[in-house]
Amino acid sequence: MKSTASAPGKIILFGEHFVVYGSGAILCAIDRRITVTAEETMEKKIHIISEIGSLKAEPGIPACDVDCILRPLYHLADTALRSHGIPGIKVTVKSEIPAGMGLGSSSACCVAGAAAVSGLFSDYSREEILHLAVNAERTIFEDTSGADCTVCTHGGIIRYGVDGHEKIDAGQNLGIIVASSGATHSTKSVVAKVKRFRNANPAEFSGMCDAESDIIRDVKELLEQGDIAQLGKKANQNQRYLEAIGVTNQTLQEMVRIGQGASAGAKITGAGGGGCVFALTDGGPAAADAFREGGYECFAAGIDSDGLIVFN
Ligand code: PMV
Repeated sequence: MKSTASAPGKIILFGEHFVVYGSGAILCAIDRRITVTAEETMEKKIHIISEIGSLKAEPGIPACDVDCILRPLYHLADTALRSHGIPGIKVTVKSEIPAGMGLGSSSACCVAGAAAVSGLFSDYSREEILHLAVNAERTIFEDTSGADCTVCTHGGIIRYGVDGHEKIDAGQNLGIIVASSGATHSTKSVVAKVKRFRNANPAEFSGMCDAESDIIRDVKELLEQGDIAQLGKKANQNQRYLEAIGVTNQTLQEMVRIGQGASAGAKITGAGGGGCVFALTDGGPAAADAFREGGYECFAAGIDSDGLIVFN
């Protein structure tokens, strides 16, 4: 018995970090995917094969003793083995999303992995898969807001907040150029750094959370209207808060300035400390040209409207 599922990567358009403290975020699923295949095996092992690492191990190992990068998939397979009493599971991962770049490789892997492994046993709803995926992601990053797995599951552009999530119907003219710093980041350590900033500057941080909530509210409307110029201004405003909480660095700063100089607006996407930035455009080539001239790889991200696809 085999089961295959695929989930898209994502970018965070607005609200990263502040979403962890309840301000909400706007995220977009992108047209790069991870596909996971799960297979029942007779051998009493959990076998994971991926381009960024492989593992063949006994079931029942404590999660903390499993290599961080493969831990969510190990957790999903181990939990399934225990509930369904089968000897072993082999999990194969094929990815179009670079790891550690803030483009959702980890959450897409958790979502596709949860769907592939659970699909060996029964049909689960998207909400059930999402629940399994967020629990798997918590094995590597316990403070996750859950926003990333939500957009990878449902696709499209979503507003995510303490009151749940809703899809946003964005205008057709939204162009997103994603540029890579080439440096990977650890979401967990950047989030811990932000926590230290918040503890040292509670009033300043709380003010930024309030301002970020206003951005999220305004951006939803601007996306629906397709107002790229105003969206760009909001991106630049959001970027100032990300700079204030210390998640940027010299390279990211330079990239954001390049993007801002050649588009409606630009900011970091994801945790920061490395990873990617994006520029908002109305489809013209200026931002992509400027990033390339600056020596940074970039691509035009298409919006994935499907989210999780289960192939069984
Ligand atoms: O892992 P990344 O780079 O997509 O960043 C996650 C987004 C944060 O807001 C920093 C954390 C979270 O769980 O929402």
